[in-house]
Amino acid sequence: MCGIVGYIGGKPAAPILVEGLKKLEYRGYDSAGIAIMEEGSIEVRKAKGKLAILEEKLGDAAPTGLMGIGHTRWATHGKPSDENSHPHQDCQGDFAVVHNGIIENFQTLKERLIADGHRFTSETDTEVLAHLVESFYEGDLEAAVRKVASVIEGSYAMAFVCRREGDKIVAVRKDSPMVVGLGDKEYFLASDIPAILNHTRQTYILNDGEMVILTTDSATVKDAKTGELIEKEIFEVKWDAVAAEKGGYDHFMLKEIYEQPKALRDTIKGRFDENGVNLSEIGIDTELLRKANKVVIVACGTAYHAGLVGKYVIENLARIPVEVDIASEFRYRNPIINKKTLVIVVSQSGETADTLAALREAQSKEAKVLAITNVVGSTIAREADSVLYTWAGPEIAVASTKAYTTQLVAMNIVALALAQCQCALPCSEIKAIAETLKQIPAQVETVLTQADKVKEISEQIKAWNDVFFIGRSIDYAVAMEGSLKLKEISYIHAEAYAAGELKHGTLALITDRIPVIALATQEQVLDKTVSNIQEVKARDAFVIAVAQEGNSEIGKFAEHVLTIPRTHAALTPILAVVPLQLLSYYTAVARECDVDKPRNLAKSVTVE
Ligand code: F6R
Repeated sequence: MCGIVGYIGGKPAAPILVEGLKKLEYRGYDSAGIAIMEEGSIEVRKAKGKLAILEEKLGDAAPTGLMGIGHTRWATHGKPSDENSHPHQDCQGDFAVVHNGIIENFQTLKERLIADGHRFTSETDTEVLAHLVESFYEGDLEAAVRKVASVIEGSYAMAFVCRREGDKIVAVRKDSPMVVGLGDKEYFLASDIPAILNHTRQTYILNDGEMVILTTDSATVKDAKTGELIEKEIFEVKWDAVAAEKGGYDHFMLKEIYEQPKALRDTIKGRFDENGVNLSEIGIDTELLRKANKVVIVACGTAYHAGLVGKYVIENLARIPVEVDIASEFRYRNPIINKKTLVIVVSQSGETADTLAALREAQSKEAKVLAITNVVGSTIAREADSVLYTWAGPEIAVASTKAYTTQLVAMNIVALALAQCQCALPCSEIKAIAETLKQIPAQVETVLTQADKVKEISEQIKAWNDVFFIGRSIDYAVAMEGSLKLKEISYIHAEAYAAGELKHGTLALITDRIPVIALATQEQVLDKTVSNIQEVKARDAFVIAVAQEGNSEIGKFAEHVLTIPRTHAALTPILAVVPLQLLSYYTAVARECDVDKPRNLAKSVTVE
């Protein structure tokens, strides 16, 4: 995820900015840059790659000015490159801006600005901010930034400097964090607390819609719309540096579980328009979307589980047959695919060796490949015929959480796009599902409120050696993900079964107090699932059920019921997996496991 830093005070800004950016390195980035106010001009230095490359570029000739802004970029619009790195500037070099988030209407704004004579030098959405502020500026940076905020849509934390007002940084936030550090005649700006902890623990945490104007004498917070002054309370940071990196959470995994509502919102935003799915977001030849007679989804691990959900969703919504394959199998089995097959590869990192090999195998058989990935500029993103990005931001914990739920959103977008192109659903229904999807982030917030209850349950699970997950239909796919999550971080043996399969063998393993986690969110098979729960209950299993709100039946057969709000059947996995993520997390913590770095596992598997 991108990182922002800013400094204004009595010391040279460049070393302070670079040091602040180093504190944000743990979040992942692909390029970095700074803009320093130097004798009436703005000196920008930026480079693709690690901060060491930027430092090399700065060398002994680093600008010595006392104010500036800096940025580490995690590519969204445009590949990682020197040109796409922040800060960005207007045509005259009078302004510089750094930005985190996504400007959804940047294309329309860019076209308008180009028509007015602005020349763009990058592929980023951020560059429109520099040109917009230039076009609105009438001698008052604060007023111009307020105008910028009024015309942009999306999420942002952004900070501006202006050559003609060399004693000021103006920053605004909406749906992207921003914090102000309060020093003695010096002020700091950062997207995250770790960047400023070496200098101060006194902060203002900006809320959505707030702007701050920093000078050497003051940090003034105002309403970004009305310009009214806002009295901020000082927030004293008590965390140590390590806790600050985790945003106060004990582990990155927990932080990432709680980041899901934002990750989901970011992934949904801009993907629908007045016609239904915004097909330019899928990017693949519309003709293929219209004519595809088969979809093949290929991935590994959690991403493979997202593919399994994708099968249910695409087959149900678009009525096209879907095969799902593990990439390490697909690449060696001479798959039957051709030009009419849409191959979807799913990979958080975009670097998994087996998934990349599967992509190449598919292309060698003339199939078109759509990648669903979280990393712009990754090898899979570069080699695929088109890319649908998940906007989960960097995932640091080895166990995937927010990447998975955003992959599920992506699967629904692809399913709806196919349904739209093949007229499998009326437009009104596509729009209705899109509206239901938009409710999901808030519903995930509701599910997260059950964390304490899940924590209590994990105290009962932690002593067991085996746990079974069961579910029917799409719930079976979620059960597989729940089981993987539990085993990889708590080292408890866990297995997922299609609930109807139990009696064909596995039921022999169900004995007194064996934990069975039963997913029962699918109305069309609910009676069947309840029967399966009764089967294990009759063998005295310890049942934890995940069910939709208002299901009073389940409680009769389960020790615990975790509920999810009601939604469309295709969307339930996004909600149902959340209690399973929490259960794995709290169980692993209770067993004193290394939650963020489980033994023998790596975040990105770039070898076969
Ligand atoms: C499990 C997990 C892994 C990954 C798998 C694929 O929590 O994260 O199973 O899903 O290694 O990785 P990507 O998605 O990067 O291709």
